[in-house]
Amino acid sequence: MTDPRGNPDHLPEIRAQYEALPYPPRDPADERHRLIQRTADHLLLLNHRCYRGARDFRDGFRVLVAGGGTGDSTIYLAEQLRGFGAEIVHLDFSAASLAIAQERARMRGLDGISWVRDSLMNLPRLGLGSFDYINCTGVLHHLESTEAGLRLLAGALRPGGAMLLMLYGRYGRRSVYDMQELLRGYLPPDANLQDKLRLTRALLAALPPTHSFHRDLDFWRYEISPDGLGDAGLQDLLLHGQDRCFSVPDIHALMDSAGLEVIAFTDRASDYDPRTHVRDPGTVAHLDGLGQRPRQAIAELMTSDINSHEFYAGRPGETRVASIGDENNALILMGQAQGRHREIGAALAPGRSVTFSGRSGTATVAGNPANRVLFSLMDGVTPLSEVYRRVLAEVPDITSIDLRRGVHDLYRVLEAQGHLCLLEAGSYGSKVPDYSRLPPAQ
Ligand SMILES: C[S@@+](CC[C@H](N)C(=O)[O-])C[C@H]1O[C@@H](n2cnc3c(N)ncnc32)[C@H](O)[C@@H]1O
Repeated sequence: MTDPRGNPDHLPEIRAQYEALPYPPRDPADERHRLIQRTADHLLLLNHRCYRGARDFRDGFRVLVAGGGTGDSTIYLAEQLRGFGAEIVHLDFSAASLAIAQERARMRGLDGISWVRDSLMNLPRLGLGSFDYINCTGVLHHLESTEAGLRLLAGALRPGGAMLLMLYGRYGRRSVYDMQELLRGYLPPDANLQDKLRLTRALLAALPPTHSFHRDLDFWRYEISPDGLGDAGLQDLLLHGQDRCFSVPDIHALMDSAGLEVIAFTDRASDYDPRTHVRDPGTVAHLDGLGQRPRQAIAELMTSDINSHEFYAGRPGETRVASIGDENNALILMGQAQGRHREIGAALAPGRSVTFSGRSGTATVAGNPANRVLFSLMDGVTPLSEVYRRVLAEVPDITSIDLRRGVHDLYRVLEAQGHLCLLEAGSYGSKVPDYSRLPPAQ
């Protein structure tokens, strides 16, 4: 197929697949009662990890959601950027997916989104300009050449810009590839999509319990079951015409090939460090001596079930993560704890504790007078200099050096697990969104 401008289509059978079954399946009517929030698209996290906590999202911020599908990221980003004069370009070659995403935006009264039905591989010809943030999740591994697609995205990234990428993980999907191979031999080649879906479900029901996919079935149940992602999920997981997977070393090689680097893994971040799982001091010392990439590769093999790699990427050599040493920055609790700083501070009485948990790790913080004041000021507004002044004024037996050391230690753990971010003091609610005005998470 050739698109309306006469550009060549890429992998037409893949486009046909997403025309038949847009992914993920979404009903625009659901926008009336819930907002889907993707953690890595949270602008505070992005700001903290990729823009030194100092980004002004009102200054003509431009976003490309490449292969945006039915719109989860586009909708969440547009909700956060409402009223900020930002521009979001949602690009997808599936008209059916685009229509669902557009209707979701209409239901929410979101504007500032440009809708482009075209192939990502045509990016240089589309005249879309350059972008501060490119979201491309679950797409590059479906292209004819992941490397070529990534190079095009890298070419559209503004200086200092960041990408969020998600690519399939090699080891966590082993049983998926066993199943795909079985299906390639098992399904009649001339069967239509409906027959393939029916025959695949029948085969799944008949699998002996020894089959690797059967053993992993609990894990994939939501993706393929009728009350989960249904036929769209089943097609995406087991019947995809183009599906490539990556180990951690593959990811780094891919980034190198496009002149990019991994800034940070965002999902299950603690599983990318073997020291999360190792206690023996000699082994920890050995792991400390390795570079970060070999350490991450070992961690992936240790965990063995990482089925997707989600990470921020950017051009090497740019300072990106906000610094805890900059006392003009403010701390802000993230995830389930966001907005609950006063309540958490109050809960940190001596003898008590608070546990923070999420997909990237769990940490327990002990209650004591310093933590009570500290956590109650993790509001995204109060600069660290003022936080330190208040703790020192209210807690008599603590020195400035011990306080700062304790805060840095806490920060190291909670930041790595995504429970804590930094942002430039005074920017919350103006340069970055005020999250209390967003619809609640579901
Ligand atoms: C698995 S879905 C992911 C959708 C979305 N990024 C998400 O994470 O929910 C892949 C999407 O990429 C789109 N896609 C695949 N190849 C593409 C290409 N070459 N150009 C544009 N869109 C493409 C498909 O139409 C589909 O909507």
